[in-house]
Amino acid sequence: MSGRRVRVPDLRHKKQAGEKIAMLTAYDATMARLFDRAGIDVILVGDSLASVILGHQHTLTVTLDAMIHHTGAVARGTEHALVVTDMPFLTYQVSVEDAMRNCARVMRETAAQSVKLEGGGPEIIAAVEALTRSGIPVMGQLGFTPQSVNTIGGFRVQGREPDAAQKLRDEAKRLEDAGAYAVVLELVPADLAREVSESLHMPTIGIGAGGGCDGQVLVLMDMLGLNDRFKPKFLKKYARLADEVRSAVREFGTEVREKRYPGTEHSF
Ligand code: KIV
Repeated sequence: MSGRRVRVPDLRHKKQAGEKIAMLTAYDATMARLFDRAGIDVILVGDSLASVILGHQHTLTVTLDAMIHHTGAVARGTEHALVVTDMPFLTYQVSVEDAMRNCARVMRETAAQSVKLEGGGPEIIAAVEALTRSGIPVMGQLGFTPQSVNTIGGFRVQGREPDAAQKLRDEAKRLEDAGAYAVVLELVPADLAREVSESLHMPTIGIGAGGGCDGQVLVLMDMLGLNDRFKPKFLKKYARLADEVRSAVREFGTEVREKRYPGTEHSF
């Protein structure tokens, strides 16, 4: 891990050098600090904030104010990682002016270095062009785009049919041409994700998109095993913290009730 912060061009250099990019989500300063010191390249303040922190059913309900609030916390916890903020539903799709105004707020009011937008339709491409021209780096997202869950009809792999696969190839290329510096591929067949990754100069970051992407991202609650209920095929749990938390909390409760905590060593 070098002393300085990861910057947008470093990700392309990593791709050129064949080095994979490690990205995780975080929503607060404490976790961000741990991930940062453990050498994670990119920390995404995902709009998954809505579900994993705020308890909503999907990502559509999170506000720009909430994303700014949590991005500020994550940015304050980091020195090394590139910090990316997910732009919430309908803060960038309505018009290029809206996208500019809302992304500028994120960049001004937090110390994030980049925003992430979902989709590859004409309105997104226009926003990516305007943002990158103005100095706001954009990470794209294709495949399963959770903000379109109501149109897509559920959490499912995208790009299996030839037309859908071609659409994904075309949109990835258009995003790159518009100036995006990286793209998340979520729930995409591994062969297609590898082919798209090989066809682009910008790095691809996969989640449920196989090992052919240039990097990988997971949601922190999922990879640390804090979320018992979410068990998709792509997920590897690197810890079982839900069990640890339950057992620590039970032990604390028992010790308090049995008057074993605090002991004299914890008292002034
Ligand atoms: O919101 C989020 O956590 C994300 C990742 C799953 C890529 O967009």
